[in-house]
This record gives sequence, structure tokens and C-alpha cells, in this order.
Amino acid sequence: MKSVDDFRLRFGSREYVPIMIGGMGVDISTSDLSLEAARLGGIGHISDAMLPTVSDRRYDTKYVRDKLKLYKYNVANPNKSEVQFDLGLIAEATQTHVRRTMERKRGDGLIFINCMEKLTMNSPKETLRVRLRSALDAGIDGITLAAGLHLGSFALIEDHPRFRDAKLGIIVSSLRALQLFLKKSARTGRLPDYVVVEGPLAGGHLGFGMDWAKYDLHAIVAEIHEWLAAEKLDIPLIPAGGIFTGSDAVDFLEHGSAAVQVATRFTVTSECGLPEDVQQEYFKASEEDIEVNTISPTGYPMRMLKSSPAIGSGIRPNCEAYGYLLDGNGNCAYITSYNRELLAHPGAKRLSVMDKTCLCTHMRNFDCWTCGHYTYRLKDTTRRREDGSYEILSAEHVFKDYQFSKDGKVMLPG
Ligand SMILES: Cc1cc2nc3c(=O)[nH]c(=O)nc-3n(C[C@H](O)[C@H](O)[C@H](O)COP(=O)(O)O)c2cc1C
Repeated sequence: MKSVDDFRLRFGSREYVPIMIGGMGVDISTSDLSLEAARLGGIGHISDAMLPTVSDRRYDTKYVRDKLKLYKYNVANPNKSEVQFDLGLIAEATQTHVRRTMERKRGDGLIFINCMEKLTMNSPKETLRVRLRSALDAGIDGITLAAGLHLGSFALIEDHPRFRDAKLGIIVSSLRALQLFLKKSARTGRLPDYVVVEGPLAGGHLGFGMDWAKYDLHAIVAEIHEWLAAEKLDIPLIPAGGIFTGSDAVDFLEHGSAAVQVATRFTVTSECGLPEDVQQEYFKASEEDIEVNTISPTGYPMRMLKSSPAIGSGIRPNCEAYGYLLDGNGNCAYITSYNRELLAHPGAKRLSVMDKTCLCTHMRNFDCWTCGHYTYRLKDTTRRREDGSYEILSAEHVFKDYQFSKDGKVMLPG
């Protein structure tokens, strides 16, 4: 019986422990978490979601206050088209976060950044261009294109001096999405260095409809493998979603996957950005406490704990401070839902909005408890303290458990 440590992920002549910790916005996959993955010889991700607010919290900047001040006149206006990001400040915030993270990197692993296309930021193309290029400018090892088809993303950076030296990958949930991406990116003369194949059991947004349960990660990975082989394309595949033990990972590695991407197991580590009271909710969850719903204004289904404060919350949209999900015309599905409820309940002190949520605000405040399908198994990965709460793990412990465990076992701490 093999362990993950019997395998290596190869990029060119370099080898890595084939464990990638997936990006978790907003600052759930922190610098500290990514740095641990790199120190241990694997690959970690930071996220580029809402970096101005992350920077305010971590580096004492005042981006959110300043943006709100600039657009305060607009807060009661349902039309948010004037609320634009300053591209120079987006570049600054991205570079600060990436540079500060990369400066602290130790060990032989890599640090990538997760870039979601669905963060349309009221100016989809221009803001994405700045985010991608700034991450490259600041020395990130690689970029994982996420939450979107990214048909034009390679073109946004093809003239960047690091376009061919940085590792570039994409997350897909189907062969069709990969085929589209490759077709549209072919003109740049560059293939992705890796493809993360994310199945229906993942955390965060899902690349499936509400019929997600019909899909199977093994089947999707096998289909993509076959097609790549037929096309004589050699691109490392990295499955993700529901890989809970080292043995689950070995199963994929033995069938030709280059590495695995994992996230949920790391949500209950001290390096993760979730506050400890939220981590305890993850530990306590049973299978019935987790749902896939459609409250994300992005239009993608999202998996989360049913007890997430974000569900049903009817706060006033915060686009003047945040506004990361505004489409190119200043619209967000939450604004529409909020205004409908406002009209239906004139003068109400508190509104409840059930169909959509103000995702920027709630992700920023760790009130949208998105999680993978197997979150209900987290309680089996640690010990209970005397007061009944669960012991928070170290990222090193979880990483090494993935790396060395066998026989479907999970190593307990201590
Ligand atoms: C709390 C949480 C937040 C996530 N946020 C993002 C994100 O911002 N962008 C993204 O591409 N994937 C996101 N994901 C998906 C993970 O990166 C990863 O691919 C997936 O969760 C792996 O499956 P597992 O959690 O079952 O190990 C998130 C997952 C979790 C658990």
C-alpha cells in the first residue's frame, strides 16, 4: 500500500510533494497557510479575492475607508455603475500581499494565487488584467485561474515578461470547459502547466448546476485523461473535491494524476483565516447541516453550512465599500433581491433576503461558512478538549497526514 509520499509532482526538472492546498477566499487560505505548504515541499495558494480589504486588515492600509468615502453619495442609489475600482490601488494591494507573502517563503515548494474570473469588479477585463499582472510583477510562483472559463485570461498577460516562466493553471469541472479554454488560448502559443479538475464535492462555488450530485470526480478526471492522451497533450491533472485522506489521494495518483488539490481538511488549522468559533462550527457539523444552495450572486451553486449567518441576511448592499461582484454595468443579483424586499416591506427595520446574499460583505466577515462536502468528517480528524470543543490542528499535521498516511487512516494530533 502506497502513500502520497511515494509520488512526486514534476514541473520541468523540479519535483514537489504532490499536495496542493487550494485557494480559499477571502483570506481563508492565508499567507501563513500557503507558506506552510511551500515549506513542506508542496504547493500553497493565497487568494486574490478582495485584496484591498485583506490588506487593510493585515497591512494597516485604508483602501476600504477611502473608497467608501469617495462613493458615499451613492449608497442609497440602486444603480452602482459609477462605483469603480481605482486600478492603481488594485495593483498596489495585490503587489503588497503577494510580495509580503513571497518574502517569507522558505523551503522547496511553491506559492500560487487563486484568481476568480467571477470577481467582475464593475469592469471585468481591466480589473482582471491588473490583478493577474500585479501578481506576476510581485513574484508569485504561479496563478490558478478559477471560477470562470477564463477564455481571454492568457491574452491579458501574454506580453508580460513572466508569461512563460510563471506556472499557469486553470480549474475546470468538465472536459468541455477545458477544451474551450485550450481553443481560445491557443493563439498565445502556451499550454497551461497544470489543470485542476474540481468535482462536485468541493467547497466554495461549484462548476456544476444544482444537479451536481449526478457527477463523479473520478469519471471526469478519466474522461479528461483519455482526451489529453488522444490529443497527445501532456498536461498534469490535479483532481480536487472530496479527497479527504492520503489514501483517497493515492487512488488518483496511481491512476495518473500528477497531484491532488485539497482544502476542507485545512479549514480547521491554526494557519487558516477562519476565526476559531467558526472552525468549531465546521467541526460540529453533521452531514445534514451542509447544503448546496443558490444564494451566491455569481450564479454558481455554493456549498455551505446551513447555519451560515449569510443565509437570509438582508443587509444594505455594500458596493461602495466592496463591489467585487458588480458586473460591467454596475449590477449584482443581490441588489435586485434586496430592492425587491425593500419595496415589499416599506419601513421595515430588518429585511430578510432569502434568495441571494451580499457575498462580499459576508465572505469578508467570515459569515458565509462555505465548506466541502466532507466537512462532517472533520470531527474525526482531531481530539476533543475537556470542555467539549475540538482541538485546532496545525497545517503541518494535516499536510503530513495526507503525505504519509495509509489504509484510509487519519492521524490524530499529539
Ligand atoms: C472554505 C473554502 C473556500 C474556498 N474558496 C475558494 C475560492 O475562493 N476559489 C476557488 O477557486 N476555490 C475555492 N474553494 C475550493 C478549494 O480551493 C478546493 O478546490 C476544494 O475545496 C477541494 O476540495 P476539498 O475541500 O473537499 O478538499 C474553497 C473551498 C473551501 C473549503
